[in-house]
Parts: sequence; structure tokens; C-alpha cells
Amino acid sequence: MALNETIIHELSTTAKALVAHNKGLLAMDESYSTCNKRFAKLGIPQTNEMRLAYREMLVTAEGLNEGISGAILFDETARQNLQDGTSFIEALAGKGIIPGIKVDAGTVALALHSGEKITEGLDNLRERLKEYLAMGLKFAKWRGVITIGDNIPTKGCIEANAHALARYAALCQEEGLVPIVEPEILMDGEHGLERCYEVTEQVLHTVFNQLYKQGVMLEGIILKPNMVVPGLACPIQASVDEVADATLECFLRTVPAAVPGIAFLSGGQSSELASARLNAMNLREKSRRPWELSFSFGRAIQQPALEIWNGRDENVLKAQEALYHRVVCNLAARSGTYKEEGKK
Ligand code: G3H
Repeated sequence: MALNETIIHELSTTAKALVAHNKGLLAMDESYSTCNKRFAKLGIPQTNEMRLAYREMLVTAEGLNEGISGAILFDETARQNLQDGTSFIEALAGKGIIPGIKVDAGTVALALHSGEKITEGLDNLRERLKEYLAMGLKFAKWRGVITIGDNIPTKGCIEANAHALARYAALCQEEGLVPIVEPEILMDGEHGLERCYEVTEQVLHTVFNQLYKQGVMLEGIILKPNMVVPGLACPIQASVDEVADATLECFLRTVPAAVPGIAFLSGGQSSELASARLNAMNLREKSRRPWELSFSFGRAIQQPALEIWNGRDENVLKAQEALYHRVVCNLAARSGTYKEEGKK
């Protein structure tokens, strides 16, 4: 079934709006286990009430919409209400923030591929997307995970994940939701910048090949990739400029200019480094960035606020200020005006 004119218009309008006005995405879509792990590290009780209170703190932060165009929710949150009875979806939409949802079902071991993963969630996805659309959600997210290690990633793993991403993206577009396509190459490992470049190039090439084969309209997606960075345990770390140059060169070779925006994940980078690297990319000449270069950060935008909040009502305002600070930093990084923190 080809997409009709109305859906084509809606998809490209939403995709453009997600990366317009130097804004970016707030990824607050941690699954139960990921959110609980982050809470456990800080001694915060891992309960439904705490997850709800934490996420209410995030979405009610004053000024959030100054730099946030869209927020990615987890299914649990998309069905919850704030204390005043407004649903999270209504609360976001009321602030002019486009509500979206994580629709993958997480990763499992890829059969016959030791150390590699495949993302699940295609079963019944069409029905779930119909429900999400009726709930007022406008875009979706699916994360494929690629690990760098001895003899991995394999072609089998890259192709399986790219295929799943493309099938998910096609289903989203058919239902009228913009797919955020997230192939994440993990930062774990001792590999250098060059190895991350090589794998990112291969993965993006395979993903766009699969998107093409599934008929996905590139004007109606957002790509959510990793930056090209050395592994966290690599003894030689790269400068901000080296990361910016390697990332842009790799993307110019693999990401078609028809894609309206690239919204980077943070993947375990510090908040400051993630902003600095995004800033450096946005300082490069326009011909080297045919797409909007934006952010869809989870940890790099939430972590300082989470640590301050620490599960206590009395810390809400301070935590919201920390969140707002990161929003403003990333808004600046979108226009190349972010000033390295500590040097202000
Ligand atoms: O799928 C991953 C999240 O949406 C982004 O999280 O910025 O902490 O990597 P991250």
C-alpha cells in the first residue's frame, strides 16, 4: 500500500517539527528495568509511584518547551496522569511538546550469534500503533543495539537489526506515526575512533538500504544514531573536534539528505561532552550538514536532575532547574553557541 498524500504531508510536517527551532527531544522512555537500575544506583525505591513522581517532575519543569520539541514516553507513562488529573500526553501537548512513544520490546540474544542482540516487538505492532495514535501520540521509537567486540558485529546481526528497524518504520508510516530510527552502536569496549567509524558506516549503510527496500519515506523519519566516538575503555580518547569531524564525515557518506533530522542519542557520554560535541558539529559549515543536527538525549539530559531529585519531593524545584539548564545548553549546542561549562 502506498502512502496517501495526507499521510505523506502529516509525516513530513511532524518530522520537521521535531527538529525545528533548534529544539530537540527528551528521551524519557526507559523501560521498567532500565529506570529501576538508575533508581537503584541512587537508592531510590523502584516502584510505580516513584517512576510516576520522577516523570511528573520532568514534564512539569518550567521552561521545558523552550528547548524540547518532543518527548519519548514509555508505555507505562503514556497511560498515567499527573497529580492534577491531566494525562502525560495532554500535559506535553498542552505545552507544545509533541508526545511520542517507545514501541520496541527490548533486546534478546540473537540466536547463533554469541554476544549479539536483536530487538523484539514486531508482533502485533500494527495494532499497538493504532492504539497509540488514538491516544494522541505522534511519533514512535525503536532501538537496535550493535556491540563492538572480538569478531563482532557480524553481518548477520547488522542485517537482522536493520531489517527490523525498516519493518518497524514502514508500519509506523502506514499508521501515520513518524518513526525514530535508532541504530545504537554501544560505547562499551576498548576500540578506537576508527573502529567505531567503520562499524557506524556499515550499520547506517545497511539501515538505509533496508529502509529503501521497505519503501520507507525518508522525509518522514528521524534518525537517532550514536556519535562516532572511541570505546569508553579506549586508552586514546578523541577531542571534541575529532568526534565532530569523524561523525559528520561518516554521516555524509551514509545518510541521505532527504532525512530531515539526525537526533543523537547520548549513550553514556557525560552531559557536558554530549553538548560540546553536538555544538562542534553545528559549527561546521552548512554544506557539511544537510540535515538538522539535533539531540534525543536520555541520560545526558536527565542525569543531573535525577541525582538532585533523589526520590524526594523537597528536591523537585532544584531538580527541575538542573533539567532546564541542560535543555538550555543543548538548545545552544544546536546553534553552535554552547559555551563549555566551567569556562563560562
Ligand atoms: O534509546 C535510548 C534513549 O532513548 C536515549 O538514551 O541518551 O541515555 O543513550 P541515552
